[in-house]
Amino acid sequence: MEKDGNHPLYRGVKNSHPILLQGAMELEIAVFCRAMTQVKAQDIGSFKFWSGMLKKQAVVLSQTGIGTAAAAAATALGCQVFQPALVLNQGTAGGYPEDLHPYDLVIGETWYNANARYRTRYGKTDFLDLVALEGESKESEFTGSRPFLQHSDRELVAWLDRESTHYTRGRSVRGCIASGDQWNDEPERIADLQQQTGVLCEEMETAAAGEVAARLRVPFAAVRVISNNNRLGEPFDAGTATALQEWMIKAVLRL
Ligand code: 5AD
Repeated sequence: MEKDGNHPLYRGVKNSHPILLQGAMELEIAVFCRAMTQVKAQDIGSFKFWSGMLKKQAVVLSQTGIGTAAAAAATALGCQVFQPALVLNQGTAGGYPEDLHPYDLVIGETWYNANARYRTRYGKTDFLDLVALEGESKESEFTGSRPFLQHSDRELVAWLDRESTHYTRGRSVRGCIASGDQWNDEPERIADLQQQTGVLCEEMETAAAGEVAARLRVPFAAVRVISNNNRLGEPFDAGTATALQEWMIKAVLRL
């Protein structure tokens, strides 16, 4: 891997801008919050932020709330108010493959907006490229039978991948996250989606947070812990959120 000297990872993030750490629900930020020192809480409406330190690393913790609208707004506020060097979106997710179970990690190398769908006049549900929608008049230019993938920051993915060797609670895989305001509980539907897209898990915030971070030109990566696998009937395990945060704290401290 080429080291980009301008990347925040290699500039020593700790000395300049903070890392914006995001989690949607209380249980996805509680461990970070307890580990932080010099904590200053700041609410903007119902968006909760805590700035402080993880040892010598400046961080801003953001409880985004659940779903795309809340995650997008929290990312815009977090980036504008705290000027972070990078954004890490993390939390729980539902596994798609039969060999992904609670406590396994998914490093979100790519992700797509699962809300962006196009129903053709022939009754087929395609994927929709929201960026191409403006300016393209031909349906084939902005729709497709495969999702339109976005990419997490390459250096951050490589860093998370290296750190995943220290994760002991499950295995770690790198791949694609489906992200939208949806919860799929039907095993056949999950199997179909996985076959069609090759996706590893679904959740509700990565696409929104990632799009806003990209628009504001802040390096972004998503990492998820499998909390449930509805294809296999494995129910939500809240302990997974704790395991993910504990690993991430150690990873941030090694920066
Ligand atoms: N489907 C969708 N979202 C899920 N989450 C965990 N598991 C799933 C799943 N199977 C996450 C979402 C959201 C909250 C409900 O938990 O990202 O924040």
